[in-house]
Amino acid sequence: MSDAKLIEAAREAATHSWSPYSDYAVGAALRFDDGAVITGTNVENASYGLALCAETVAVAKALGEGRRGGLIEVAVVGPLDKGDGAPITPCGRCRQVLNEIAQLGGTDPRVLCVGSDEVREIRLSALLPHAFGPAHLD
Ligand code: THU
Repeated sequence: MSDAKLIEAAREAATHSWSPYSDYAVGAALRFDDGAVITGTNVENASYGLALCAETVAVAKALGEGRRGGLIEVAVVGPLDKGDGAPITPCGRCRQVLNEIAQLGGTDPRVLCVGSDEVREIRLSALLPHAFGPAHLD
């Protein structure tokens, strides 16, 4: 699957966002080494602090379906008409959540951060250097 298709999957996921409080719809798409794509979108709550980010929802879906690694690419898309158009990067908590499934399979996924004029590709290890992960608990 091309980067453009993965980004399109993330964009499609964002159409299902439940984000009436922030009005900031985010979509994430995870691509695995067997070709599977699992998406997620942000899910907010009237109790604001309970919001779940798109990447976290996608990882929870993947782990909940039994995946324990094989994550090779991630695309993250936010609203292109907000902010300065800079590529959206996963929040700190999402970096840690992504690291869990990445480290389980020993991969360092490419993270495609989509902005209005550019797609910035950053390795998860660059987004979260010196990560704490499941291997520390062995
Ligand atoms: N959000 C994500 O879904 N992913 C991120 O990496 C950053 C922020 C969501 C959380 C909240 O619903 C909205 O964007 C505004 O922060």
